[in-house]
Amino acid sequence: MTAPDLRSGGIAVLDFGSQYTQLIARRVRELGVYAEVFPFDTPLEKINQHAPKGYILSGGPNSIYEADAPQLQPALLASAQPILGLCYGMQALTYSLGGKVASSTHREYGRADLTHHGSRLFADVPETSQVWMSHGDRIEQPPAGFTPLAVSGNSPYAAMGDESRGLYGVQFHPEVVHTAYGTQILKNFVVDLCGCEEKWNAGAFIDDAVAKIHQQVGDDGRVLLALSGGVDSSVAAALLQKAIGGRLLSVFVNTGMMRLNESEQVAAVFGQGDMHFTALNASEEFLSALTGVTDPESKRKIIGKTFIDLFTRYASEQAGAGVRFLGQGTIYPDVIESAHASKTSKVIKSHHNVGGLPPDLADKFSLVEPLRDLFKDEVRRVGEALGLPNTLIWRQPFPGPGLGIRCPGEITWERLETLRQADAIFIDELEKAGLMRYDSTQLTAQCFVVLLPVKSVGVMGDNRTYEEVAALRAVVTDDFMTADWARLDYGLLARVSSRIVNEVKGINRVLYDITSKPPSTIEWE
Ligand code: XMP
Repeated sequence: MTAPDLRSGGIAVLDFGSQYTQLIARRVRELGVYAEVFPFDTPLEKINQHAPKGYILSGGPNSIYEADAPQLQPALLASAQPILGLCYGMQALTYSLGGKVASSTHREYGRADLTHHGSRLFADVPETSQVWMSHGDRIEQPPAGFTPLAVSGNSPYAAMGDESRGLYGVQFHPEVVHTAYGTQILKNFVVDLCGCEEKWNAGAFIDDAVAKIHQQVGDDGRVLLALSGGVDSSVAAALLQKAIGGRLLSVFVNTGMMRLNESEQVAAVFGQGDMHFTALNASEEFLSALTGVTDPESKRKIIGKTFIDLFTRYASEQAGAGVRFLGQGTIYPDVIESAHASKTSKVIKSHHNVGGLPPDLADKFSLVEPLRDLFKDEVRRVGEALGLPNTLIWRQPFPGPGLGIRCPGEITWERLETLRQADAIFIDELEKAGLMRYDSTQLTAQCFVVLLPVKSVGVMGDNRTYEEVAALRAVVTDDFMTADWARLDYGLLARVSSRIVNEVKGINRVLYDITSKPPSTIEWE
């Protein structure tokens, strides 16, 4: 008997280059419907592999009349399934059906008021509501058969549809939270107009992921898992353990760039139980590879390569022949920031487990990455469904390159020791203030110290000091794609500052980072 295809009857999201594409898929999954992203020009047989009941066309940075602008494939229009175009997706739909798109003199960026005229797409949405716009071009003339469904200040066709054919377009972005009824509009399309069943949840994800792991590694393949002890790699470990049990070899690497006592804590959690777990100390290897390196991208690439060299050696020397698979807890934000998400995206930083991997990796391993399409909060829900303890699920993320990317400038053992001490004080004070919670009431999503390679003059006793600067970072976020700085209490900041400059040798000044992401990122490098 073949297993039912849990991914069938969902939504295919076609990517025209928007930074929000994966967010569209995620919003659909939140409605309980499977959604998968495909580049806009993926052959239709592949897009239709899981028999989607509808298509959503993403936005994108192009103008539809540009020579190399991505176009809608005609075969899609021949299918009987409903289509919803968002922003550029709507313009591509319009263009391919013979309507007119023009660049508008009044661009619309940010919030706008939308008034709809009543249709199934806007069921249960107030007549006027706030939407989020981000466009220069707009529809001047919809294709034959389409009627306007909504207007906004600068878009006479802020939404349009040919309801008899199930074709719709909206100029705004229902997938972003600033569109007040965005979820309702997506639900109207996905559930009412496409008829998708709301059956996709963490349990279905787990069953599907286990089936995919079996398919990839076969009946005898063994997987070496890079286990850092963070939530992503721990959830990946639990999924792999469920799928292949004893054929999973989990390896934790102490890079020398861990936080205070971290290696011991990870070994204590995973060293017991049924999992095959090994801890390796490779501090010297990492630090010597990083000697003299200050450029952030070079650091990331060196760290990525050192991990792979180590795993390759471990696989051939320790684990015996036949370990061809490398498991990683890669999640979607790692992929997008390393610019591996689509042809049009830009590198923000090469996450050690994606863009930081060496080019010859494929000669050594095939990657097994069951969480690659998920956002952090989705991973946490999967972790809950797998029964992992809250202390693991709600652990703050700690990047694979560790303190290496919190130590701008050259990484030396002395600087790492200074950073470890300062970081431990910050976390200790946050814990005492009840801010490090290990459940969904968590207030700060990530908190840490960065050691800046800047020396400043200070005075201690009657002596001059000339030492480095610590920057405290604490952010509030759900998905780590955007973040705001945490409004920590002044008394708490004062205690942390005073303890760091008094207790840690090598730091005589403390700053608090008050930048949101964007324009900054959470980490400093
Ligand atoms: P940024 O700094 O890009 O980080 O806002 C977003 C989230 O990703 C973590 N991060 C990484 N995680 N490998 C990882 O596993 C990496 O190379 C890496 N770089 C950043 C960061 O800590 C934050 O949670």
